Amino acid sequence: MDPETSSGSLPYGPAAGRPVPEAEPELVQSWRSQGGELVELLSEVRRRFGGIAAFRLGPARTVLVTDPQAVQHILARHPERYVKRSHRARVLIGDGLLAATGTAWQRQRRVLQSQFTGTGMRRYEHRITEAARTTAGRWGGYARTGQSLDVGREMRRFALDAIWRSLTGHPLDDGTERELTAVNAVAAALPTLPTDVTDARDAVAADLARIDAVAQHAIEAARSGPAGPDGPGLLHVLIDAATERPEYTDRLIRDELVTLLAAGHETTATTLTWLYLLLDRHPAAREQALAAGGEGSAQRRQAIQALVHETLRLYPSAWILPRQATADDILAGYTVEAGTDILICPYLTHRDPELWPGPEHFDPQRFRAPDGRPAHPGAYFPFGIGPRACLGLQFALRESTVLLEHLLPVHTLAFHSTPTKAVYGLTVRPDGPTPATLGPPRT
Ligand code: HEM
Repeated sequence: MDPETSSGSLPYGPAAGRPVPEAEPELVQSWRSQGGELVELLSEVRRRFGGIAAFRLGPARTVLVTDPQAVQHILARHPERYVKRSHRARVLIGDGLLAATGTAWQRQRRVLQSQFTGTGMRRYEHRITEAARTTAGRWGGYARTGQSLDVGREMRRFALDAIWRSLTGHPLDDGTERELTAVNAVAAALPTLPTDVTDARDAVAADLARIDAVAQHAIEAARSGPAGPDGPGLLHVLIDAATERPEYTDRLIRDELVTLLAAGHETTATTLTWLYLLLDRHPAAREQALAAGGEGSAQRRQAIQALVHETLRLYPSAWILPRQATADDILAGYTVEAGTDILICPYLTHRDPELWPGPEHFDPQRFRAPDGRPAHPGAYFPFGIGPRACLGLQFALRESTVLLEHLLPVHTLAFHSTPTKAVYGLTVRPDGPTPATLGPPRT
């Protein structure tokens, strides 16, 4: 029985909740007049009204949720009461897993799930390592010649190569990489596109055509040609699913392919870029991670993973998770009516000083010391929690760790300039280029 919502067998009727505290309209007006970022408004609403608080951008109310128990209630305990709304990203990913709902989502998740856990992941480890080696080889060249590089672009290239190899069994070639910049272009444009899906698709028609051409070519190659050097990939799993499940039309296979490309590279790439920017400010963290153990040791791997987790604490790339209440509910003692828009914000939960002492400070030891971090699952959730948590969690951690194991011991990096702000779009990413030069390689 759920003590938050049930009155047990006593005849008192359903438990009554308190109204969610709501920010006064003046607060929103003042934020608007200053042209602030959404994160600034959310931060102020949280500071003044706590971990469950409402505000209005228009006539409808949005409830901001940062309290760990409420996060767990929505995402993990009662996900059926809080669903994803019609997803903006549908313009790009159609009916792909990230946007799908109901029984379609269940079926689609079942098809892909086994590839991303335990033994399923083993098939992709070699491909991830090859992508890391390719990047390390390129960096070796930059270091020898003194040529500068853009860290953000390098990380995108690596993450795209890792997922492309896992999908198709082939390394990413320059032509495909160029065409797939259209995925980033559409993703970046999503927040500003018209709300009507047809109008939105028209606005980015040229980029969508480039993406569709790459997808069609990859699907045809996977269907007719031999598997790549690493054997069949995720795309083959989707094509095989079509033999038993008629809903796997070419359109749905395209949507899943684009979903895995989009969800599976920008997130990892921005995390790795933030990590390098943070190491620039905290060079001792790199030394500590490398000193934790020798090459290939479990201790070094854990220390590198702690760098990744601390980066994801400060910059969880999916920084807001929108939901909509499907039924009246009592959320941590507050009344939430059916139809209410909810914004869960890991970015703010991860910076709550009551959960994370000195929250703005980059300290990877939080993820190494026994009591270094709060144990509540709703206190740290860069990959979400519950049934709709990130499908690619293990993939993302693995690729990040393997790449850093290749790069960190060999190269130091000097940024020519660093972005001074973050962009809070679909993901939170550095605002601007990240040019750098590598120090001489260490042998
Ligand atoms: C650091 C990297 C990553 C982060 C921070 C991240 C974060 C997330 C989060 C927070 C969600 C849940 C969204 C919600 O509940 O509204 C999610 C979902 C998802 N992610 Fe990731 N992700 C990352 C990497 C990846 C990778 C590498 C892949 C694929 C290889 C991937 C594929 C997906 C998919 C398919 C979903 C939708 C799952 C579903 O709805 O059933 N992600 N991700």
